[in-house]
Amino acid sequence: MWRSHLARSLQQHLSQPEAKFLHLATVGHDQRPRNRTVVFRGFLENGDRFSTPLTDCLKIVTDIRSQKAMQIAENPWAEASWYFTKTRSQFRISGKLLLIDHDCQDLELQTARLETWQALSDPARIQFSWAHPREPRVHFPKTEPPAADAPLASFCLVLLEPCEVDRLELRGTPQNRWIYWRDDQGNWLEKEVNP
Ligand SMILES: Cc1cc2nc3c(=O)[nH]c(=O)nc-3n(C[C@H](O)[C@H](O)[C@H](O)COP(=O)(O)O)c2cc1C
Repeated sequence: MWRSHLARSLQQHLSQPEAKFLHLATVGHDQRPRNRTVVFRGFLENGDRFSTPLTDCLKIVTDIRSQKAMQIAENPWAEASWYFTKTRSQFRISGKLLLIDHDCQDLELQTARLETWQALSDPARIQFSWAHPREPRVHFPKTEPPAADAPLASFCLVLLEPCEVDRLELRGTPQNRWIYWRDDQGNWLEKEVNP
């Protein structure tokens, strides 16, 4: 399954923090694509046991005031693109995004949001106290990092629940490519295709 290949790539890049940067494309209000770099924060643990099951979800964090938050509310479809230099593998992961904000009433999701906040570093947490993104530049006063036990209201956990994954391995001539998709029961299927 694609997850074991992704795990292998991550394992081989443990000494390279930048290997956790992936590109996340959403759809804008005007139907144009919007793409940006984000940090992979791990997979959601036990999501398949939630009252509304969530499987294989990638965790990302973002600010509720960011443009992507608004885009997700209008259209949750997204695609992530991720390239690993050592394994020479590209993963294109498409699926729906679920934004878990301050107001989310689901206890399991709210717990996941809290745990993700707690796992952030102080420099990552402090960004959520900054002035409104994309507004005209203002002076940022020096502030203490926010408390680790209570997420700021601006903090959101974003889950990407994949429904299709396209894996390309550049090694070999010709290269190797696989498509993975989920059937109606949620089981992953795969086929090897031409690169
Ligand atoms: C290396 C790198 C990592 C980033 N990680 C994140 C992240 O984890 N979450 C996030 O919201 N933005 C992250 N950003 C900033 C985004 O790329 C983007 O500028 C910001 O989220 C605003 O995007 P939006 O206006 O489309 O919402 C990162 C940028 C870089 C260059």
